[in-house]
Amino acid sequence: MAFSSSIASIARRLEGKVALITGGASGIGECTARLFCQHGAKVVIADVQDQLGRKVCQDLGSNVASFSHCDVTKESDVREAVDLAVTKLGKLDIMFNNAGIIDPSKASILDNEQSDFERVLSVHVTGAFLGTKHAARIMIPAKSGCIISTSSVCSVLGGAASHAYTCAKHAIAGLTKNAAIELGQFGIRVNCISPFALATPLARSYVRFDDDEQLEIAISGCANLKGVYLRADDIANAALYLVSDESRYVSGHNLIVDGGFTIVNPSLGKLKQNP
Ligand SMILES: NC(=O)c1ccc[n+]([C@@H]2O[C@H](COP(=O)([O-])OP(=O)(O)OC[C@H]3O[C@@H](n4cnc5c(N)ncnc54)[C@H](O)[C@@H]3O)[C@@H](O)[C@H]2O)c1
Repeated sequence: MAFSSSIASIARRLEGKVALITGGASGIGECTARLFCQHGAKVVIADVQDQLGRKVCQDLGSNVASFSHCDVTKESDVREAVDLAVTKLGKLDIMFNNAGIIDPSKASILDNEQSDFERVLSVHVTGAFLGTKHAARIMIPAKSGCIISTSSVCSVLGGAASHAYTCAKHAIAGLTKNAAIELGQFGIRVNCISPFALATPLARSYVRFDDDEQLEIAISGCANLKGVYLRADDIANAALYLVSDESRYVSGHNLIVDGGFTIVNPSLGKLKQNP
């Protein structure tokens, strides 16, 4: 009996939970919202793309999903999105700081505009900071909660994207550690996920591929793990793990989902093969 009830709780791992997902109108955020709902959660999708965000909520059903117009760089918007979760759904168990943008990687730092640099840092870093702050406002008195953010392989290496994006993703990993230390005393876990490249509107805008298939083939060419493409589902499943009880003692962790990309540097090996 105990065994079958534990199987049931694994089958729907977020039963009764309330989650807020920034950047939930598209890509990784949208996919995660769908997966969380399949696992019994109710979600608030917070995004600047109103039409798309409302459509995702409509698909999921108004009883389980609500939309909040939210620019994560504005504290009042983030506060309102968090408050919507509490007033409409009664609490906030899970905060997913996922909204993101990317700027084109310029050949030289001399060509990088300060305004582009600040815009990228603002969405990723200020956004994750505000999301963490306002989630903590609700989670500290509740003495529980999970906060996750989307970082990137750019959190642990250089040269894969612009200076702004690389700085922003390193900063998210830093914020994750700092917040995990402060919030652990309240039973709140804080983690981040660092994906390798995957075909989403953000990636398409960076590499200027219109076709997902072509983009996935190009990404796979740079990947370490062959024969499989990284998809939004893979990141949603990593998010599900980090916010469910299966990871109940995991905090301050940067979960790298990259098929081994960041552990590979074949340059010296090549030197040995071709003296
Ligand atoms: N796609 C990749 O290759 C990849 C790899 C590693 C990390 N990431 C990260 O994953 C996250 C999600 O990106 P994605 O790939 O799903 O792209 P996406 O473009 O599909 O989704 C990003 C979402 O963020 C929203 N957004 C942008 N600015 C916002 C703001 N100021 N306030 C609120 N919402 C805002 C967008 O409207 C969009 O819905 C980002 O943080 C991105 O940096 C993506």
